[in-house]
Amino acid sequence: MDSYPKSAEILRRNRRYIPGGVVSVNRATAPEIVFVQGRGAYLYDADGNRYIDYHFAFAPHFLGHNDLHVNAAVEAALRAGESLYGSGTTVAEGRLAELICTHIPWVESVQLLNTGSEATYQAIRLARAATGRDHIVVMQGGYNGWHNDVACNLMTPLEQLGPRVSPGEYPFAPISAGIPEEHQRLVHPVNFNDLASVRYVCERYPVAALITEPILQNVGLILPEPGYLEGLRALADEFGFVLIFDEVKTGFRHALGGYAEIAGVVPDLVVYGKAVANGYPMAVLGGKAALMDYVVHPDARRRVLLAGTYNAHPVPTAAAIATIERLLEDGGEVYRRVEALGAELEHGVGETLRRLGIGATLVRQGSACCLYFMDHRPKDWHDLAAHHAFAADTQMRRELIRRGVYFFPLATKQCSISAAHTPADIEETLRAWEAALASVGPSLEKHGAVTGVA
Ligand SMILES: Cc1ncc(COP(=O)(O)O)c(C=O)c1O
Repeated sequence: MDSYPKSAEILRRNRRYIPGGVVSVNRATAPEIVFVQGRGAYLYDADGNRYIDYHFAFAPHFLGHNDLHVNAAVEAALRAGESLYGSGTTVAEGRLAELICTHIPWVESVQLLNTGSEATYQAIRLARAATGRDHIVVMQGGYNGWHNDVACNLMTPLEQLGPRVSPGEYPFAPISAGIPEEHQRLVHPVNFNDLASVRYVCERYPVAALITEPILQNVGLILPEPGYLEGLRALADEFGFVLIFDEVKTGFRHALGGYAEIAGVVPDLVVYGKAVANGYPMAVLGGKAALMDYVVHPDARRRVLLAGTYNAHPVPTAAAIATIERLLEDGGEVYRRVEALGAELEHGVGETLRRLGIGATLVRQGSACCLYFMDHRPKDWHDLAAHHAFAADTQMRRELIRRGVYFFPLATKQCSISAAHTPADIEETLRAWEAALASVGPSLEKHGAVTGVA
């Protein structure tokens, strides 16, 4: 499949009313495909093509598209006449909060919001209110949403980034226009897996919070080195900043308690999103009650405003409850199933690389993985940006799409397996992946990456 005439027509029409024709500029793609249906592990486009999906709308549908159990819960809530009241509490929001706090014991209380960006915004505001400090530390190559504090240093090309501004810090590299310079002064980007840089910044500025994904999952997967997350915890205790884990992508996907549960490191605040409601708009801000209680602080001058017309809307709330119930079934059988599928994919890709003599490294955590055309796992954004063959990666994705396997066509974007995939889907994917890799081989030779199997 190389041409998408019906998709092109829809996009052409939408461009008249939507800048670029697409809401959310990061959804603009080449090839320009318009999807009309998502079911289980599959996507269908306006031209009648079917794809095995590994993009899953940037990863929320951990159970697959339109999971029947989740949709049944949503339909039941609507049939029961549940609506948005905007006054007082509801039984459903209490049930969801209880489920989360019961199964993630260190999350003492929660607030329910709509998107990851809102939740990371509020986490940082809580940290500033509680510490009385303004500065924050963020990660190069991390993504924590679109707001002024964090819209920076994601996939910034090294030549554009320039040298470090100090031994511990990189320049704030905005990923959006319109961020006031005053704001940028308060944000300190550091390298992931580099504790010395965090210490450097903390010794020079009054740091309210450090926010990080425990695995950098917006540039593929950059895993924390042993001791790194523990080191961040120790630095937070030493310098008195609030440690915020942004588990918008890792939460509920890698374990119910997110990657913090796997690593055994407890942050002060955590943000969940995406997989928590399997594709419905829901985000959770939670953590230590002493911090969360700032939203009801008796002193109005210290109270944090946390509001939102649509917070805990009954539709995503019902979806989140149903999702968590599914994840809890049979002692976490879903996690075992997707781990097995992930292992099968990893094994198959390894064999393919060996057969083709391509040097590349697949990094995987459970159901999420990324193939890097480099001979080692990236340690941080600099390492990745300096070694990975980005153009070949994008080309490989386009070749996969042509063969009916949907990877987001932008280098390093995560491959997400869902509980709806089957071993047969993985087999079909591996056949397509082999053909795609064979066709990008020559461009890898130019990059100098064909060095044997990593
Ligand atoms: C780790 C992380 N944090 C925050 C966000 C922002 O979430 P949202 O797009 O729901 O605002 C994202 C979105 O991709 C994310 O991956």
